Amino acid sequence: MATIELKNLWKEYGPEVVLERLNARVESGEFVTIVGASGCGKTTFLKMLLGTESPTRGQLLLDDKPIPAEPDATRGIVFQRYSVLPHLTAEENVMLSGELTANRFWGRTFGAKRHELRAAARKMLEDVGLEAAFDKYPDELSGGMQQRLALAQTLIKKPRILLLDEPFGALDPGIRKDMHALVLKLWKEQGLTVFMITHDLDEGFYLGTRLWVFDKNRLDPQAPGAYGARITYDLPVGKDDRGTLDDISHRVDSTARVLG
Ligand SMILES: Nc1ncnc2c1ncn2[C@@H]1O[C@H](COP(=O)(O)OP(=O)(O)OP(=O)(O)O)[C@@H](O)[C@H]1O
Ligand SMILES: [Mg+2]
Repeated sequence: MATIELKNLWKEYGPEVVLERLNARVESGEFVTIVGASGCGKTTFLKMLLGTESPTRGQLLLDDKPIPAEPDATRGIVFQRYSVLPHLTAEENVMLSGELTANRFWGRTFGAKRHELRAAARKMLEDVGLEAAFDKYPDELSGGMQQRLALAQTLIKKPRILLLDEPFGALDPGIRKDMHALVLKLWKEQGLTVFMITHDLDEGFYLGTRLWVFDKNRLDPQAPGAYGARITYDLPVGKDDRGTLDDISHRVDSTARVLG
């Protein structure tokens, strides 16, 4: 179970209203893709799901309880640009991440436990297609490989909710396609609930089971921060028509008009 509920959710920074009156319910296993103009509050929303930002009004619930005010293992995040520890190999980076989660209080694991952790890290790296890169350092990995490493590092913590903030924005189109296949595979295999921000509507329609458009439907030119963005479109992406290009491009056109 990982049901997320937004109940009249607001986020303000001082006088600036970033998000206002968000209402939605997302069931376990959904794949929500989020598009919207730059600065409209998409990353802020993800940070609230992660727990590093709190709502200023309303509620954000996970399984009927307020999301904890600090990140925990239920939620994992991958950003557009990945900051790995450069002096650790791929395997060590993933192990460290698993270690911090498995053993928050002791810090380090030894003996049989360490052996288990190494095996789990290797399995995770294999799952993301990095079986040939266990011993490589981040600067020896391509951009796509670094994002695979970022996914492995996040998924070793076994989150139920995966938060992706334009994770493939910096990658070449060919590599992105491989990453799409990987994310869909991991989503299905691990039964994840996914929230993914993208600037690419095609990507949003292709990957998501549901697409949200964040936009302000009130704007005061004299006071741009007076009103926040809302979920102006909440589109189910039907299983039957997923991947049918005509339908997708039709929706992309009409949504692009909304985005301006
Ligand atoms: N810690 C903060 N303090 C004050 N204002 C903030 C803070 N974080 C974000 N903001 C403001 O909130 C608004 C939304 O920012 P956010 O990063 O969520 O936008 P975004 O939709 O992710 O944009 P982009 O597509 O460019 O990544 C911006 O006006 C930003 O300046
Ligand atoms: Mg952002």
